[in-house]
Amino acid sequence: MTQNVPLRQRQFHPALRFAAILGVVSLLCACGGGSSTSATAVATTTATATPVAVAQALTLDFAALANYAAPVLPAYYDAQVQATDNTPSGDPVTDKIATLGRVLFYDKNLSVNNAVACASCHQQARGFDDSSRFSTGFSGSAFTSAHAMRLSNLRYFRPGTAFWDRRAASVEAQASQPVQNAIEMGFDAAHGGLKALFAKLQGLAYYPDLFTLAFGDSGISEVRVQRALAQFERAMVSTNSRWDSGYAGNFNPSLADKGLGAPIASFSAEENRGRALFVNAPGAGGLGCVGCHQAPTFALAANSRSNGLDAGEATLFKSPSLKNVGLSSAFMHDGRFSSLAQVVEHYNSGVQAGPALDARLLGPGGAPRLLGLSAADKAALVAFLTTLNDTAWVADAKFASPFKP
Ligand code: HEC
Ligand code: HEC
Repeated sequence: MTQNVPLRQRQFHPALRFAAILGVVSLLCACGGGSSTSATAVATTTATATPVAVAQALTLDFAALANYAAPVLPAYYDAQVQATDNTPSGDPVTDKIATLGRVLFYDKNLSVNNAVACASCHQQARGFDDSSRFSTGFSGSAFTSAHAMRLSNLRYFRPGTAFWDRRAASVEAQASQPVQNAIEMGFDAAHGGLKALFAKLQGLAYYPDLFTLAFGDSGISEVRVQRALAQFERAMVSTNSRWDSGYAGNFNPSLADKGLGAPIASFSAEENRGRALFVNAPGAGGLGCVGCHQAPTFALAANSRSNGLDAGEATLFKSPSLKNVGLSSAFMHDGRFSSLAQVVEHYNSGVQAGPALDARLLGPGGAPRLLGLSAADKAALVAFLTTLNDTAWVADAKFASPFKP
C-alpha cells in the first residue's frame, strides 16, 4: 500500500494541486512573451494538463484525477476484510487506469451501434443495477436472460469469479465479455469481435491520450481494456450507508463479534430488530444471513453455496454485495422477485432442496429450513436491508459519467 501515500497526499492537499495549475499557467504566460521558454512550457503542460481531445469530449482533469486508488476506508475495513479483496497482487487500483475504465464504462461506442454502454444496464443511481428485470441489449429488441448485478463491493467476493453463476474466472475476464455478447453490446464474431471494437476506439480522438495516461502509450488491447474496467469496478467501495455510520460507533476490534451484535443507536426499533435477525446466528435469536452476506462489505462469503431458489438446483450461484440492495427492483439471478418482502418470504418458506443448496439453509432432519417468521419480523428484515443503501455513494461524481452532455 506504500505506493498509495502520494495519492492520499494529493487528496488532502488541494493547495498542492492549485500550485501545480498556477505553475502551468505562469509557464504559458512566459511563452507568450518569447519563444525561448516554449519547449519547457509544452513539456510541463503535457505532463499534467488535459489534452484538447479529452477536454472536448470529457469532464476529466488530468491534473486532478479522482482518488480511486486510496479511498479513506473506515476502521472496520480491517485486515480480515482486506483478506477478502480479490485485487490481483501486483495490479493495485491506480487513479490513471481506473479513470480510463470510467470512460470505457460510460462509452456507448463499446456497443456495435452506439446504443448502449455498460452504464445503460449498470445504473449508478441503482447501485449499478438495472431498473428492469431483464436488460435491453444494443438492438433495443433483445433482452438478457439474467438480471443485471449491482457492482458495489465487488472486490470483496474473495473468489473473484463474476456473473451470477460464477462462470467468469475473474473481474478482468468478465470485463471484455459484454462487448462480445450478441445481445448486450454486439461485437460478436459476426461483427468483427474485439478487433473491430479496438479499431473503432483507436479512431476516437480521446482514447490515444487516455490509454497513454493509463499505460504509457496509446495501444489498445484486451488486457488493457480488462484491467481498466476491472480497476474502475474495484474502486466502487461503498462505506457510507446508514448501517455504516451506525456500526462505526459500535465497532470494537477486541470483541469476538467486533460489535456487530450491538443495537445501533441511530436505528429505529424495527431496523434494530431486522439487524439482529440478520447478524445473529440461528440458535442465538437470528437467522444467520450474515454468515453468507458478510458484514461489513455484505459481499458473499467465499464458501457460500446456493440459496435454494429452485428444486434440484445444481448451479452454484453468487450474490452481489447487498450494499444498495434496496435500490434494486428485481432480485436473484433471474430477477424473479420484485420486492425485498418476496426475498424474505423465500428464506422464510420457499427454500427448495437440491445439490447446490447450502447446508446452512437446512433445518434439523436435513430438509430446507422453515423460519416461521412473524409479519413484524419480515418487515423488520426488509427495513434493515434498506439501511444498506448508500445514497452518498450512488451520487458520487467520481463514479458518474465523465462525458460532456
Ligand atoms: C445489456 C445490459 C448489460 C450491459 C450493456 C452490460 N452488462 Fe454487465 N451485466 C448484465 C447482466 C444481465 C449481468 C448478469 C449476467 C449473468 O450473470 O449471466 C451482468 C453482470 C456483470 C458483472 C458481474 C458482477 C458480479 O458480481 O459477478 C460485471 C462485473 C459487469 N456486468 C460489468 C459490465 C461491464 C464492465 C460492462 C461493459 C463492458 C457491462 N457489464 C455491460 C447486463 C449488462
Ligand atoms: C447459504 C448462504 C446464504 C444465506 C444463509 C443467505 N443468503 Fe441471501 N443469497 C445467497 C445467494 C447465493 C444469493 C443469490 C442467489 C441467486 O440469485 O441464485 C442470495 C441472494 C440474496 C438477495 C438478493 C440479492 C440480489 O442482488 O438480488 C437478498 C436480498 C438476500 N439474499 C438476503 C438474505 C437474507 C435476508 C438472508 C437471511 C434470512 C439471507 N440472504 C441468507 C446466499 C445466502
